[in-house]
Amino acid sequence: MSSTESFNELPAHVWPRNAVRQEDGVVTIAGVPLPDLAEEFGTPLFVVDEDDFRSRCRDMADAFGGPDRVHYASKAFLCKTIANWVDEEGMSLDIASVNELGIALAAGFPAGRITAHGNNKDADFLRACVRSGVSHVVLDSAQELELLDYVAAGEAKVQDVLIRVKPGIEAHTHEFIATSHEDQKFGFSLASGSAFAAATAAVRAENLNLVGLHCHVGSQVFDAEGFKLAAERVLQLYSQIHAELGVALPELDLGGGYGIAYTADEEPLDVAAVARDLLTAVDRTAAELGITAPVVLVEPGRAIAGPSTVTVYEVGTIKDVSIEDGGTRRYVSVDGGMSDNIRPALYGSIYDARVVSRFVEGDPVASRVVGSHCESGDILINDENYPDDIRPGDLLALAATGAYCYAMSSRYNAFTRPAVVSVRAGTARLMLRRETLDDILALEV
Ligand code: LLP
Repeated sequence: MSSTESFNELPAHVWPRNAVRQEDGVVTIAGVPLPDLAEEFGTPLFVVDEDDFRSRCRDMADAFGGPDRVHYASKAFLCKTIANWVDEEGMSLDIASVNELGIALAAGFPAGRITAHGNNKDADFLRACVRSGVSHVVLDSAQELELLDYVAAGEAKVQDVLIRVKPGIEAHTHEFIATSHEDQKFGFSLASGSAFAAATAAVRAENLNLVGLHCHVGSQVFDAEGFKLAAERVLQLYSQIHAELGVALPELDLGGGYGIAYTADEEPLDVAAVARDLLTAVDRTAAELGITAPVVLVEPGRAIAGPSTVTVYEVGTIKDVSIEDGGTRRYVSVDGGMSDNIRPALYGSIYDARVVSRFVEGDPVASRVVGSHCESGDILINDENYPDDIRPGDLLALAATGAYCYAMSSRYNAFTRPAVVSVRAGTARLMLRRETLDDILALEV
């Protein structure tokens, strides 16, 4: 943070599209003051800008040629309201567990627009997919291929499937969220021939209908060349399948991964430009290989949900601590932490934090924003210069927390999960209520 004045600004490419700091210093989203929401629903609180979320759905749909080609990756954040928004936007949904499927179906999401993922789907999950009529099951292993064929036969159905392929691309992202290199658990290897063997088995299986291949290079990716390279490599396999099995696969699912800005000095990936480039590359490569270009599907999660949401905390204890170089570091504690946002602790992720209840004007001081959990690694913002007049009772919000924060939340220290509220046109709507001690005790037998 270069100056205190800039601390009061909200970087537009990081904060929700309808976030505004008013003249009195209070931040509103879609016309709803965040302090009012904190008062009504308590803190920590996730606040989702509905129009922001929907506008990013439309941006993706425009970029990739229609809403049905875009599967919102529900692992980023899913509840019934989100499933309804995605449905209303005409998009498809990617689910990666039997319970994500259950939430989608409970919301009335059409199964015919759901794609099912997972490296360890069991018979119950696969049966739920086949029974509900999901449009695609993405096969991740030879074992699953056989199991799904068996399950589909038992249901007297033929299930459309994609085969997940790892094209061997090193995505430049955190190791845990890169998924396309060889030495990891997902998919079939292109290089070793196991992907072609799986395609052959799927084409021969009586109760499976192979409609395409899938790959996902990783998450929070900024190097768009990775997507292109992956598509080009996977298309080689389309050509081999066409030549040797006589099958023209109509679809190519390129997964998600589009990077977003978490801080003022980051730039989000220009999805429209990347999509143009990618679709052109797919058409060109298909033409070179002499095959019909498949329809391209994508599965963005973070780029839709991430920027739509902020987490509002209340500041509690503030403590100045001497540090090695003789200086001090100010520890600003908030009333949540690694239970509602594990990403800084898990991946070293960085966030943009602002006081949202008033203007702050103090001099910059080396600060660390920490949560309320019983471990020193419970850090939300590791090292920033924040104004020295931040005080207990202020509301501090972290931006771009819509993806993989609530979704990865825990009950560590018996913390209850925060409420999630959506805002639109001056009105707030509770999407998920705050958990209570009774919810925790309800599990006891
Ligand atoms: N499709 C597949 C098959 C995936 O595995 C993923 C993410 C996506 C789509 C969506 O990727 P996105 O567009 O959201 O980048 N917990 C990590 C992210 C893990 C992503 C796992 N797979 C994080 O907090 O950064």
